[in-house]
Formats: sequence, C-alpha cells, structure tokens
Amino acid sequence: MKFFIDTANLDQIREAQDLGILDGVTTNPSLMAKEGISGKQNILKHYKTICDIVPGDVSAEVISTDFDGMMKEAGELAEIAPNIVVKIPMIKDGVKAIAKLTELGIPTNCTLVFSVGQAILASKAGATYVSPFIGRIDDMNWDGMQLIREIAEVYSMQFSDTQILAASIRSSKAIVESAAAGADVVTCPLNSILGLLKHPLTDIGLAQFLADHKKANK
Ligand code: G3P
Repeated sequence: MKFFIDTANLDQIREAQDLGILDGVTTNPSLMAKEGISGKQNILKHYKTICDIVPGDVSAEVISTDFDGMMKEAGELAEIAPNIVVKIPMIKDGVKAIAKLTELGIPTNCTLVFSVGQAILASKAGATYVSPFIGRIDDMNWDGMQLIREIAEVYSMQFSDTQILAASIRSSKAIVESAAAGADVVTCPLNSILGLLKHPLTDIGLAQFLADHKKANK
C-alpha cells in the first residue's frame, strides 16, 4: 500500500519525505488555506515547492466547477511538474474533465467520493485515483471502511485500473483498517503515520536490549 501525506504544511511534508517511506502528497483548498497560502501565483508556487520536496504524486485540486474552467486550471497545474496529479471533484463536469484529462494523458484524482456508484463513474472516466472520504462518512455515523471494501470488490471484479486512495483518514487505526479493506493508497496526517510506530513492548524490549548490552560491555 502507498503512503501519501494529507497536508500542505512544508515542514510535515519534509519530515515525512525524510522517513523514506512517502509515496506522495494530497492537498485540498482547505489545507492550502490552513497554511495561509492564497492567490493563484502563491498557490502554484507552493505546489512547485511541494513537488521539489517529494518525487511521488502530488495531488493539486482545481477550484472551478465547470468543464472549461477545470480544464484550464488542470493545464496550469500539470505544467508545474511531471508528478502533479490533478484533483477533480465528483460532479458531472468533473467526470467529463477526468475523461478528457485521461485522454490527454494527465493523471487525475477524483475527490469527494462517498458511494460505490461515484467510484464506478470515476473509474469509467479513467481516474488514476479515486478518493473515498472515510472520516467524513464515519462522522455521519455510517461505515467508511465498508465503502472501501465495496469499492475494492467492484473494482476487482471489473478489472479497474483506478487506485483506491483512502482519504479523510484521521488515525493510525484507520490506516491499518484501510490496508485490510483493500485500499491501494492511504492519505493521512503525519501524526497518524508516526502513530504506527508505537508499541509499549517495542520500547520495553529496546530498553532491555540496551541495558543488557551495557552490562556486558562495562
Ligand atoms: O484527503 C481529504 C481530506 O483532506 C479530508 O479530510 O479530515 O477534512 O475530512 P477531513
């Protein structure tokens, strides 16, 4: 399974990249705003900085909601670097844009996906990635992981090339569950990735090894 970091924070992106296990980055307009990045040129520049740090896929989201606007923005984003993936919302014109961008050889990430039907449409349009928002489904007291399992089953039956990118992942536990549910990629904050490291028996075991070594090597 691929690991993406879900942030526009450069320090966190650098730290995740330094770990040596990062496959890519996902951003969205809210995450860009959270970092105080505004204005078209600043946003494009920020994406360029991210692409310079991470060689893997970097999802950059369009703001337009009409086909022509999305295509124009997609062209500008794709020009930033070869590892840009254009993130397009799951709306009618979005599906049309994904199909056109696929025809043009530009990779896409279909975002704001909350049902198997939407995932089928994204795949049919040729999306490189489909992003079901697990945490937001759980927020509604529905079952986000069940959606991953259902998409994985349908994609497998249909021999779909679209990769399932589990998004809106907010805990280490959800990373593990996404892997078990059949996600190809998980995107999450740095803390959730680092949380996977934690186990008290690892800490106790390491302390014991070091103590024994010290005793034997006085
Ligand atoms: O990858 C999508 C993600 O950024 C949304 O996460 O926590 O705002 O639902 P969240």
